[in-house]
Amino acid sequence: MNRVITYGTFDLLHYGHINLLRAAKQKGDYLIVGLSTDEFNLHQKGKKSYFTYEKRKQLLEAIRYVDLVIPEDSWAQKHTDVDQYNIDTFVIGDDWEGKFDFLSTESGIEVVYLPRTPEVSTTQIKADLTNMNDKDKSKDF
Ligand code: CTP
Repeated sequence: MNRVITYGTFDLLHYGHINLLRAAKQKGDYLIVGLSTDEFNLHQKGKKSYFTYEKRKQLLEAIRYVDLVIPEDSWAQKHTDVDQYNIDTFVIGDDWEGKFDFLSTESGIEVVYLPRTPEVSTTQIKADLTNMNDKDKSKDF
């Protein structure tokens, strides 16, 4: 059985996330998602998620490609996760290209960067919604 892991925040789940998860699952038989905790997002990644960890976890668990969701609360946990969950393949979007090559050399697993789905991101969705809201406010009803 080929076991795959990926990491991310997956806030305001969108079709770019679904494409990534589908392609990740296609790399093996069992897909684990390391889901960034609210604290990790805020203090290490510098972003506040709209949905809480528990809500984001629930959404991911409802996706057919996802077999297990575990918390991601440090940058350094990847080595231990690889050992603990017997990981064969690490997958992430190509906005991280080259950043995790050390897992291949140090842990001997396959590292795959998948092409991001164009023109969608959580940041963009938030910005677009704010923009729409501002435009509504300035409308002369
Ligand atoms: N991803 C993707 N295509 C997109 C958006 C995200 O393939 N259009 C991938 C990322 O490369 C990553 C995973 O989905 O492997 C989770 O990304 P995340 O950072 O949670 O999503 P973003 O939409 O990029 O969020 P943000 O704008 O907050 O960075």
